[in-house]
Amino acid sequence: MRKRVIVGLDQENYTAQVLMAEFEDQASRPHDSIESFAAALNNAVALHDSITALHAQRVSEVCFLVASELDLGFDIREAAQITGMVHDVGKLRVPKSVLNKSEPLTSEERAQLEVHAEAGEQMIASLGEQFEEIARGVRSHHERWDGSGYPDGLVGGNIPVMARLLAVVDVYDAMTSTRAYRPSVYSSGAAQEYLADSRARLFDPVCVDAALAVLDGWEKGRRSFSLPDSF
Ligand SMILES: [Fe+2]
Repeated sequence: MRKRVIVGLDQENYTAQVLMAEFEDQASRPHDSIESFAAALNNAVALHDSITALHAQRVSEVCFLVASELDLGFDIREAAQITGMVHDVGKLRVPKSVLNKSEPLTSEERAQLEVHAEAGEQMIASLGEQFEEIARGVRSHHERWDGSGYPDGLVGGNIPVMARLLAVVDVYDAMTSTRAYRPSVYSSGAAQEYLADSRARLFDPVCVDAALAVLDGWEKGRRSFSLPDSF
């Protein structure tokens, strides 16, 4: 990481500045491929919040599988994989005290958390034109099919495809993994049931069907590979 002299900032802002410097540093380095670049950006997230970074790795894998199931071209499958990896990069701008809070968030903290979708879009869009579609997916990954999501309250087909796909995978992984605010987790079966029940209400039905077609296989591979659950 480049050394920066940061004076006159409180601890929360100091940490945010250092993490943004790490993001900018990763963004300015040459990388062999766009995938390794996305993984490097996720390393900046890992410094801030390892739970989010591990979540992003799993989401990235499953996004690629769902895009393949939908028979999307290689470029779009690759974009889905990258969008999955960087979708929560905007959490670098959310205070750790909010990300790790175990009690329910206040409305002010909820607003601070929700900023991550737009912040992530800005950070990814700043990397260059080739990231435009990925940036749009990042912005809209908390939109919901019925218009109840954020930040724009988009409805159905107005939500970018990348975000519709990502939303399904994001929620599945959030339900089946441990979070600061929720130590107990749903089983894969219960989470899949939730997705099926929310089909065409919260999520694009086509993306839900594709996710349900690949999740059992992905879970099986994940268990047999047995990756450690923390850095
Ligand atoms: Fe998110």
